[in-house]
Order: sequence, then C-alpha cells, then structure tokens
Amino acid sequence: MTEQREKRAPRNRTITLAEADCELYRSRLQRLSGPTTLEEVLDHTICQDLFEILDFLPPCSVDLIFADPPYNLSKSFNRYSFAQVPLLEYEQWLESWLGRLARVVKPTGSVYVCADWRSSTAVQSVLERLFTVRSRITWEREKGRGSRNNWKNCAEDIWFCTASDDYVFNVEDVKLKRRVIAPYTSLEGKPKDWHESSEGRFRLTYPSNIWTDVTVPFWSMRENTDHPTQKAEKLLARIVLASSREGDIVLDPFLGSGTTSVVAKKLKRHYIGIEIDELFCCLAEHRLSMAELDPGIQGYAGGVFWERNTLSDQRRHKPPTRQPETVQPTLLSGIPNGTRSSR
Ligand SMILES: C[S@@+](CC[C@H](N)C(=O)[O-])C[C@H]1O[C@@H](n2cnc3c(N)ncnc32)[C@H](O)[C@@H]1O
Repeated sequence: MTEQREKRAPRNRTITLAEADCELYRSRLQRLSGPTTLEEVLDHTICQDLFEILDFLPPCSVDLIFADPPYNLSKSFNRYSFAQVPLLEYEQWLESWLGRLARVVKPTGSVYVCADWRSSTAVQSVLERLFTVRSRITWEREKGRGSRNNWKNCAEDIWFCTASDDYVFNVEDVKLKRRVIAPYTSLEGKPKDWHESSEGRFRLTYPSNIWTDVTVPFWSMRENTDHPTQKAEKLLARIVLASSREGDIVLDPFLGSGTTSVVAKKLKRHYIGIEIDELFCCLAEHRLSMAELDPGIQGYAGGVFWERNTLSDQRRHKPPTRQPETVQPTLLSGIPNGTRSSR
C-alpha cells in the first residue's frame, strides 16, 4: 500500500495516489490535542488513534455513527495490524471505545456496527448494554474463499441500534427497485403494486434486513481503492438515507478509505471521519474531492436502489458529472487485482 504506483491494466480504475497528492491531502487532515467544538471537526478527516481523541469529541453531537472496526482476525491495515484475541477480550476492546462513543450520540441518534459471524455475538452483547438494538442486517458479501469442509463464508452482519425510541427511519428513501418477473394484474387488468416505464416493469419494495444487492468494490469500479476491507458506497448510502436527514452529522470512528464521509457528502450530510493510518486518510480526502466532481453512487440512481445487473437502466438516471475545478483525481490504470480480502 505504501508504494502506490504499480503498473495495472488499462480498465482498472483503482484509485492510487502520487506523493504530490498525498502532500496536498495531508495538509487537510486534522489532529486533536484537547476537547474540541463541533465546528472544528465538522466535514474533516481526523488522522489519529481513536482512543487518543474519544473524550475530545463534543457530547450529544452526532445523528448517526457507522462503525466498521477491525474484526477479531489477524489482519494488516497498511502500517497497522490487528491480532486475533480470545472473544471475551475482543468484547472488552469493543466496550472500551463504544462505551465512550455512546455519549457523542444525540438522544435521537442511530448507531450501526459491522461484524463477522465470529465476533457478532460480542458486538451484540456490548450494543445491548448501551443502546436499543433494532435489527441485525445480514449483508451477502458474495466474495469469499470456498471451502471443502465448511460453508463458504460470504456474509457479514451490520447491527442497527438507536439511542432511544425517538429516531429517524426514512423507509421511503431506501426502497429497492426490482424488475417484475410475474406481472400480476387486478380483475380490471391494472398492474398490482408494479408500474410500467420505458425501462420495463418494476416494483418498489420495502427493504429487508437481508441485503443481497451490494457487491464488494472491485477493480473496475470508480470508488475502488487498495484498502483491504473497503465497504461499498451503495451499502453506506442505504444506511445514511434511512437513518439521517439532509444536514445531519454522520461520524465514522474507523474511516478506512473514506466511504462513510464520501457518501455523507454526496447525500448532503455533514461528516466526521477518524482513521489512524495517514495513507487511508489521504485516500479519503481524495475521494471527497472526487465527490465534488461526481456525486453519483453506483447502484443508487434516480432516488432508488437498484438490484444487481441493472446498470444500463441506472445510467439513464445518473446525475451529470461536473468538470474538474482544482483537484484532479489521479486514476492510474492497473492490474485487475480482483479479490478484496474476505476478512
Ligand atoms: C475495517 S476498516 C474500515 C473500512 C472502511 N469502512 C472503508 O470503507 O474503507 C477499519 C479501519 O480502522 C482503522 N483503525 C484501526 N484501529 C484504529 C484506531 N485505534 N483508531 C483509528 N482508526 C483505526 C484501520 O486502519 C482501518 O482502516
């Protein structure tokens, strides 16, 4: 990850940064040395260890937290590594930051925390102590190593909690647009809960807690970086749209490549991102610059979420891309690296 400029295939759109880009983005990063006001951190990336700054963030200030922490696996994130520990120890680690982060959430706020199947029970028990747990979303990740003696692991959990019973849930904003296979009609021949358009027959359905329409970012997607566990913008868009309003504040304490901040910005929310690794912070800043030029989110177009393999239909709803102003994204061509780690 530190050497960003390897040779890649022409159609590979993975974002990489040159040293000059990093220099520019580094100057935008924030570091906190004491308690801060909301204005100081709003729409910024804080490049620091979460544990150093947890108590500096203003109380009752954010509407939505999305946390995608390192799972309980031995894994490297560029310069920092996470070592697998006994599950009880992992639970204590979760409690050590979630317990302190809870005070930052507004009484009307929501919290989402990601987990794999092994650590999900630990995440749930910590969340039950701190918030009202509302649902466990299962995301079918699709990618994962096949196994001869076990079930292929290709699902992750995302726990949804709220601070109280008074919370935002914009269900109309997160409906899924599905192609109609069986176009039932009423006795008068009128469509039953589907509509016909120039693109075909579609139905808008209520979103469930099983998400099968979101892929892991891969090399031909504009949002892809070399971050080993990057989440898709489409996944974040569903969470941000459901659990916040325009102008609200979204916090990600493990920002990684910046997905949460980028989506918050594209959807007209404010963001605060915290990430320990400087290169990932620079990637996040770069993606935030790209968001100014292209506010589109792959898989979300025309105000609805589209199921997989509907790209041509979605293109008709794509918002226009603006011409670059000052910062030019450095998109290097590259080798289809294809497989993002299955964590
Ligand atoms: C699972 S990844 C998050 C990926 C992110 N959701 C994305 O879409 O790119 C977890 C991130 O947490 C960061 N991290 C780990 N420990 C941290 C700490 N103590 N403070 C801040 N960031 C930390 C890692 O560097 C890594 O980028």
